[in-house]
Parts: sequence; structure tokens; C-alpha cells
Amino acid sequence: MHIPDIIIAIDGYSSTGKSSFAKIIANEFSFLYLDSGALYRGVTLFAIENGFITDDSAIDVPGLTEALKNLDIHFGPCGTYMGERCIEKEIRSLEVAGKVSPIATVPQVRNYVDRKLREFGKKKRIVMDGRDIGTTVFPDAELKLFMTADPMIRAQRRAAEMQAKGQEVDLDDVLRNLQERDYIDSHREISPLTQAEDAVVLDNSHMTMQDQLEWLKGLIRERFDC
Ligand code: CDP
Repeated sequence: MHIPDIIIAIDGYSSTGKSSFAKIIANEFSFLYLDSGALYRGVTLFAIENGFITDDSAIDVPGLTEALKNLDIHFGPCGTYMGERCIEKEIRSLEVAGKVSPIATVPQVRNYVDRKLREFGKKKRIVMDGRDIGTTVFPDAELKLFMTADPMIRAQRRAAEMQAKGQEVDLDDVLRNLQERDYIDSHREISPLTQAEDAVVLDNSHMTMQDQLEWLKGLIRERFDC
């Protein structure tokens, strides 16, 4: 199936499988996949390692803002990099997950990430996932999805994913973390997680990846006449 040069924006709640689905879409249609959450997670790791956020999530906003001027977070062969260092594993830890939503409320952090994301968007044929892609980063994206699923199912999926990577996890901790992030993400002042008016909702609680892909292909055929 060949689809036109478009931007696909995927937003939704934590651990709804946005990034897994986005990777499959990228592979299926030869699109570039961009994980906006990885940039927020990268900034969070940087903030933790450099003392810009305390254990109780108090943030040194002026210090972090100044440091962002020289912070180089980008994508490469191993995934996400901070300068030369591959940080893909560290940014997926529960420690980073526990601090990323407070960090993502800081306007200067959002500006930093948005600038990077919009650079990529100059080219079409990209699929990007996050919380505000269809509403703020690419409001003109030609196709917007909003993903949701039952919280317990999401927690089980995320815990299984972490266990498969050899991390020890407690299901309750994972559930608590994703509910906390959903709350902060939906209630922050700037670019809160909301469904764009023209987004199509995908509740994948009881769908396999294959089901999702078939559903999407149907939607694309209908929408773009291809
Ligand atoms: O994959 P998962 O759903 O766990 O989250 P993620 O996409 O890696 O994003 C991690 C966190 O970054 C989210 O909980 C948000 O707080 C923040 N984020 C955001 O504010 N805006 C985005 N476009 C993407 C992520």
C-alpha cells in the first residue's frame, strides 16, 4: 500500500502502545518514526544527573533553562543520545518515568523539545508520537490518532515490557506511575494532553498490533483514496 506524503500524529495516554504502533507504521509505509517522549525523557535524565530536580520533584527552572542551551539530545543508531552517549536504556527506567511529567510541564523544556520536533517535520512521511503532537507540534498533520486503553491492561503491558528487558518491576508501581503521568499530562497549563478535534480515537484494550494495523489501513484507504 502506498500512501501520500503526510505527517501522522499519534497522541494518547501513557503506555497505550503509541511508540510500538508508530514503529510498525513507519516500517509498513517507509516513514521516519520520531519518539517525542524520548526527548522529554532525555531532558529528565539530564536534569536528574545534574541536580536540576530533587527527589521530591522540585525543579531548578532557571538552572535547567540555562543548561538547555548547551544540551545536545538527538536520535541515532542506538536510539536516543545525549552528546556521544547512548541513553536509550536509562531513559526508560522507572526513575526517569517518575520525574518526566513534572519536567515536561516546564515551558522552556517544551520549547526546547518543540524546536527539535518541528525541524524534523519539515520533511513529510513521518510518524511522531507524544501528548501534544496533533494539537501543538503539528496542528496541520494530515492524520491524527488518539490512543487510549484500560489502565490495568496498559500497566500489565508496560510491566511485561520492562520485565522482558530484565528490569525488576512491581505492577502496582507501574500502574501508579502511569496514572500519575496521565493526571499531570492532562492537567498541565501548557499543551495538556487533549484529543485534537480532528483526531480519530483508537481504544486498543482488546486489539492486537495486527488488528490495529488493519484498522489503520482501512482508515487511510478511506481518507486518502489510495
Ligand atoms: O511511552 P510512554 O507513554 O510511557 O511515555 P513517553 O511517550 O515516553 O512520554 C513520557 C512523558 O513525556 C509523558 O508522560 C509526558 O509527561 C511527556 N511528554 C509530553 O509532555 N509531550 C510529548 N509530546 C511527549 C511526552
